[in-house]
Amino acid sequence: MASSDTPRGHHDLGGGALRALGRLFRPHRWRLCGAVGVFVVKHSPVWLLPLVTATIVDTVVLRLPLAGMWVATGVIMLILVVNYPLHLFYVRLLHGSVRRAGTELRSALCTRLQELSIGYHNRTSAGVLQAKVVRDVETVEQMVQQTTDSGLGAVTVLVGGLAVVGVRAPQFLPLLSVIVPLASLLLLRVRSSLRDHNEVFRQDVEHLAARVNEMTQLIPVTRAHGLEGHALRRMDDTLRRVLSSGLRLDLLNGRVASLSWVFLNILGVVFLTASALIAYWGVWGITAGDVVMLSAFLTTSTTSLAMLMSLAPVISKGLESVRSASEVLRAPALEDNTGKAEVSGVRGAVEFQAVGHAYDETRRLAVRDFTLSVAPGETIALVGPSGAGKSTVLNLLIGFIRPVSGRILLDGVDMAGLDLRTYRRFISVVPQEPILFDGTVRENVAFGMPDADDAAIRAALRDANALDFVDHLPGGLEAPVADRGAHLSGGQRQRLVIARALLRDPRLLILDEATSALDTRSEALVQQALARLVRGRTTFVVAHRLATIHNADRIVVMRDGAIQEIGPHDELLRRDGPYARLHAGHPV
Ligand SMILES: Nc1ncnc2c1ncn2[C@@H]1O[C@H](COP(=O)(O)OP(=O)(O)O)[C@@H](O)[C@H]1O
Ligand SMILES: [Mg+2]
Repeated sequence: MASSDTPRGHHDLGGGALRALGRLFRPHRWRLCGAVGVFVVKHSPVWLLPLVTATIVDTVVLRLPLAGMWVATGVIMLILVVNYPLHLFYVRLLHGSVRRAGTELRSALCTRLQELSIGYHNRTSAGVLQAKVVRDVETVEQMVQQTTDSGLGAVTVLVGGLAVVGVRAPQFLPLLSVIVPLASLLLLRVRSSLRDHNEVFRQDVEHLAARVNEMTQLIPVTRAHGLEGHALRRMDDTLRRVLSSGLRLDLLNGRVASLSWVFLNILGVVFLTASALIAYWGVWGITAGDVVMLSAFLTTSTTSLAMLMSLAPVISKGLESVRSASEVLRAPALEDNTGKAEVSGVRGAVEFQAVGHAYDETRRLAVRDFTLSVAPGETIALVGPSGAGKSTVLNLLIGFIRPVSGRILLDGVDMAGLDLRTYRRFISVVPQEPILFDGTVRENVAFGMPDADDAAIRAALRDANALDFVDHLPGGLEAPVADRGAHLSGGQRQRLVIARALLRDPRLLILDEATSALDTRSEALVQQALARLVRGRTTFVVAHRLATIHNADRIVVMRDGAIQEIGPHDELLRRDGPYARLHAGHPV
């Protein structure tokens, strides 16, 4: 398959996860810098407060002039009051840039999903891709928000506090630099056991979600066979597990919270007493105010440090998500359309010249030596047992896959040199499973054709034998078609898809077993609709039922990827070859 991994546009996330993250936030760097600046100012009370308290205490104890106290109080009051507007400003700056970057990442992912080849999509589960666009981006957003919120808080407290202590009581700096990391390490140890329990609990909850999903999907089967009790018992197990791991987690949480609270406060009291003794004996010229300040600073800085360290799992999870997203953004399985000739019109002549295709190097050829020349307006039916390569031929024609040997000419031009996206404006594909999306009948029929007027839509519906039932739907054209067309019958959905194909007025029509899932009554209606659809267009149709095949200009019989015989129905029957045998085996 044609591929290219040249970086393109703003959504390239090459290199390491950190670099990728940097590139993602590059357009928002000024907002982020602004957020940091605003944060430092708004957060300053946390490390200034102990200083102010110290001034106040000293004013009282040492009977200093009151003016100093008033100034300190005034300053801190002012900073406290402006905290509200500053905080809002900060949220606006930080979350504004995070949400914007997240949206850009999501949009880049969606764009990329549209560019990746059908082969890539066949290999990759839709659920996984969904998780990347929804959950991974969310995780990245959370990581940046949390590290900024808590990380900045902790860093400002530490730096500010150290500065204050350094100025007021530098003798304590070495002592603090030992106690603070020690205390936070201890806290972290307790918390790390929490993480494991959190993980177990999360897995149990995920398991529960999967079970509930499974249960709801099975409800028609369960209820139809009176197996409700059985299904509920299957749930009980899972529910019990969530209960016990939840309780275990709660207990542990309680224990950790209480222990760290007790520990931190004991540490505080010890430190307070120690510094009080130092002040009392007048060893280092420490004042009563200094004692208060130091003990306040000790608690805030140990918690800050612990906070910083607890960010590690958040960051590693976030970086993992960045990696997961860049996997998609850097996947090389692109459909290579850049710089190729745009198609501005299609007559409908198709020529396969000794085309071969293998899905990968190790596999045998799914189609080989396929040679066929089709005139504009001709209808070609492909028949053959399942696995014969019929769908592969159609996918080659759509350009979902490319020949590994030979070539396909469209109106005499090699398809390899064409911009497939422009070429596909002239084709319509009706697959076996009619795919409708959550929207109205009108939106589904006019998908990709916003300019289609009512008259055109109704004409398409009429030709598709769908107008009658659409007019009987409440709301008519505006009637909602539920997700995947749940409340329409298979035949009705298929006729809506045919109306969609008709409205596009394609030059090239591709039908892959479009009628094989239908009952005979709706098949007759679909059949009529198809007959109208086929008229005047080059058509490739794969069908099992004879009616569709009968009317084809030529029938191509395939087996094991190769053409066995070609000819119109009557001639092939007369020849008494593979088609005649196939026909005798499946009289329809
Ligand atoms: N996406 C795919 N990846 C790998 N092999 C495939 C893929 N699609 C089809 N094949 C293989 O190619 C051969 C032809 O398949 P296909 O064209 O779908 O046959 P048909 O439509 O006639 O039933 C089969 O052997 C099938 O297993
Ligand atoms: Mg098939």
